[in-house]
Amino acid sequence: MRPIVSPSILAANFANLESEVKMINESVADWIHVDIMDGVFVPNLSMGIPVVKAIRKHATKPLDVHLMIVNPERYVDAFYEAGASIISVHIEASPHLHRTIQQIKALGIKVGVAINPHTTVEQLEDILGDIDLVCMMSVNPGFGGQTFITHTYKKIERLKAMIDRTGAKVQIEIDGGVNLQNAKPLMNVGADVLVAGNFVFSSANPKETIAQLKDVK
Ligand code: DX5
Ligand code: ZN
Repeated sequence: MRPIVSPSILAANFANLESEVKMINESVADWIHVDIMDGVFVPNLSMGIPVVKAIRKHATKPLDVHLMIVNPERYVDAFYEAGASIISVHIEASPHLHRTIQQIKALGIKVGVAINPHTTVEQLEDILGDIDLVCMMSVNPGFGGQTFITHTYKKIERLKAMIDRTGAKVQIEIDGGVNLQNAKPLMNVGADVLVAGNFVFSSANPKETIAQLKDVK
């Protein structure tokens, strides 16, 4: 199976966001990954609601919004109104995760749960049937351009087994340090969605790099 490719706009040229979004529109990318950081849950700040709205204005593909923020339930409605098609919240930032998932589902969009590298996939067992996506962090969230953590393969295998056993309809998204070296092995162990920031935007031909990621089988 070919991956769903979700280029991370965090690595784009923010001074020329419109043309970066148009490049993704013209590419074979499936989604646009949008990283929201609050400087509290993660040690960095990125963009907020007005920037998501601006991206939405030009994008022809679904916005895959990854909230790296505390109390995500406070902002879910605002990101939906800004144009999110998928919203992922972190398990580590959500004491009432089930309630937050229901809140996102009620908006009629896809819901994802993101997990940090130290979080075990077994913690997802009791909400797997309620979600569409697991955003598995393969770096510590907060920055683009980090090195892929290889232990992620074992976590994907365990999550895939859990999904097969329970019959849940959940896609596995891998976020952080994805490139053409690890894309195929990731797909082989059960990944469905590949997020790629630096690898796409620092390449000589981002559109072609997206096509190469999409071609991985
Ligand atoms: C990390 C973000 C990632 C990041 C991926 O905190 O959640 O989505 O943009 O970027 P690369 O592909 O450069 O690791
Ligand atoms: Zn992300």
